[in-house]
Amino acid sequence: MAEEDLDRQAIEDLVESASRAIAGSENLDSLEAERIRYLGRKGELTKSLRSIKSLPAEKRPAVGNAINQAKERLEALIEERKTSLSASFVEEEPYPGDFTLPGRSGFSGGRHILHSVMGEIKEIFAGMGYSIAEGSDVELDYYNFEALNFPPDHPSRDLQDTFYINKDILLRTHTSPVQVRYMEKHKPPVRIIVPGKVYRNESPDPSHSAEFLQMEGLYVDENVSLADLRNDVTYFIRSFFGQDASVRFRPHFFPFTEPSAEVDMSCFSCRGEGCQICQKTGWIEIMGAGMVHPNVFRYAGYDPDAYTGFAFGMGIDRIAMLKYGIDDIRRFLTNDLRFLSQFWSEREMGE
Ligand code: DAH
Repeated sequence: MAEEDLDRQAIEDLVESASRAIAGSENLDSLEAERIRYLGRKGELTKSLRSIKSLPAEKRPAVGNAINQAKERLEALIEERKTSLSASFVEEEPYPGDFTLPGRSGFSGGRHILHSVMGEIKEIFAGMGYSIAEGSDVELDYYNFEALNFPPDHPSRDLQDTFYINKDILLRTHTSPVQVRYMEKHKPPVRIIVPGKVYRNESPDPSHSAEFLQMEGLYVDENVSLADLRNDVTYFIRSFFGQDASVRFRPHFFPFTEPSAEVDMSCFSCRGEGCQICQKTGWIEIMGAGMVHPNVFRYAGYDPDAYTGFAFGMGIDRIAMLKYGIDDIRRFLTNDLRFLSQFWSEREMGE
């Protein structure tokens, strides 16, 4: 193409004739032929773009720009034409089936059993006035241990239990760090539950998994007592496992509570007589709990003389295993539909 052809007028003429050709193409094949004629590797517009090289340098940017705009415009026209040609292909055949038959809903997937159990537990606590708080899976050593009053040489800081990312950052080993994070940002009264994933560097076996779910609870106000803890925990256990459950507190140690306890409920399977589930003790351990340690209040910026509070923490996988008689915690993570679908409702099964 000669130099003088590359002016604005020449490009406009090219666009003009290409637009007409595109609008006039009657099927997808002839449209494609037009596309190749103008925009293909050896197409008209492509050729003019190549011949820019022969222009004086100061003219090149303006002409190049005009050619690129023309190209974009033609591409858009081709797309538009393609859409309208394809649309006219849809043939209007009458529906071959029977319109009056009831519809069949397809399989749309179901809720994971852990999700359902967590939802049920959240609902019980929401009914008692707890709101939901969340933290992040990647946590600072400070919140996971130090601010929870763990001494520097506490065994659970050991590399064997904790996945460290570096000296200061780790995957949280429990949901308790959210206690301090939440108190730093909110004044009492505080009444929260904290659902979430936690991680421990453990070899998996039927009752251990390197990742599992926990739910933390925290209630802080003036004059919160151990009796309040017992009341809320008992209400939860009875709502979830049945009104005839009895509850007992066994003294225990956690660095972030004082006094601390492990909470047991009477075995729902043998009703206290002793069976496999409760390992013949008649009791099943359900959570850890206690009164918030004054040092934890100090770390969070609360005055331990003005406020008291209780905290508890439970393993959601374990609770689901107990309630549904599941024998291996690893089943929750293998995503075997034969296992998961046992817990789906009929609606979720697509019936
Ligand atoms: N964080 C503890 C754990 O993972 C569970 C726990 C015990 C949480 C006592 C609490 C508590 O809030 O008061 O083993």
